[in-house]
Amino acid sequence: MHLLEDISLKPYNTFGLDTKARFFATINSLEELKEAIALKEPTKKIILGGGSNILLTQDINGLVLHVNIKGISIIKEEEDWVWVKANAGENWHNFVMWCIANDFGGIENLSLIPGNVGTAPIQNIGAYGVELKDVFEHCDALELATGEMVQFSNKSCDFGYRNSIFKNSHKGKYIITSVSFKLSKKKHNIRTNYGTIRAELQRLNIVSPTIKDVSNAVIAIRTSKLPDPKNIGNSGSFFKNPVVTAQEFELLKNNFPEIPSYKISETEIKIPAGWLIEKAGFKGKTFENYGVHKKQALVLVNYGNAKGEAILKLSKLIQDTIQRIFEIHLEAEVNII
Ligand code: EPU
Repeated sequence: MHLLEDISLKPYNTFGLDTKARFFATINSLEELKEAIALKEPTKKIILGGGSNILLTQDINGLVLHVNIKGISIIKEEEDWVWVKANAGENWHNFVMWCIANDFGGIENLSLIPGNVGTAPIQNIGAYGVELKDVFEHCDALELATGEMVQFSNKSCDFGYRNSIFKNSHKGKYIITSVSFKLSKKKHNIRTNYGTIRAELQRLNIVSPTIKDVSNAVIAIRTSKLPDPKNIGNSGSFFKNPVVTAQEFELLKNNFPEIPSYKISETEIKIPAGWLIEKAGFKGKTFENYGVHKKQALVLVNYGNAKGEAILKLSKLIQDTIQRIFEIHLEAEVNII
């Protein structure tokens, strides 16, 4: 393991924020990870995967561990199913492409999500009607306090909407080193119900889509409205979509009859935060070198050299405004450090 000092984290976070780490190490193997964790000093250790879900608001006076453990392998195969293990440092989208090239189905709807395999379970990544939990078999993780390896089953991760045990009781206590998935080899479950996927496939005259077609449709939709972090710094959806009670929703509907919604259960309704933010007048707003994306109001953007504190301040202004207009609390989806 090679310990570097005073390193800019700009290349390691998709928001492109230029904060510094006092110490920094790229971790290429489980052995290196164990070695780094065993270091007595510095005590503060921050784990960084693809850096696609964090807002860095300050320099880190500690050790940043950039988990870069690579490798994909088939661990078990049956006639209809395959179990695949991917190490934490694999880029998520490259892994999706590897599955599609092998005709393994299940994660095609999750194409082009930024980030790495190892951080995907933490927030149970999801898009276009599919969540990681739908294909997650188990993950292996290193316990920081003991240096022991622990395995977490799907059930024990306690997955929810953009949520898991790793964001709650186990927050900061484990480093996920690999994730194992159960994927289909035959009779793929093609999911095109999520609004625009079907329309995109129709536009391309595709009647019986393959997993590759679904992936292509998702890629086309995402590129049309989500900014590419290579060009404009961002962390995807900054907030979660809020869930309100049926009663609260009735009141909102009286005041805002056009409000979009998704029914989750008889008592719970999810409201697209992007709509609330747009309605509050923030969509496309630019403040100096940062702002709210023009095509998707849920995405905050860094047009270059913005400070994390400034983006955090904007997020608070948005939260306060949404609270005032709609009496709804928007919860940040990204991790604020
Ligand atoms: N909308 C607006 N204005 C906007 C954006 C959205 O009015 O500027 C309304 C529209 O009614 C639209 C609806 O919101 O139909 C839903 O928008 P969209 O399909 O873009 O999805 P979303 O709910 O805003 C969620 C995820 C995305 C994921 C998409 C597609 C969350 C927090 N975000 O966004 O995930 O890609 O669905 O499944 O759940 C991410 O987590 O980083 C992310 C990008």
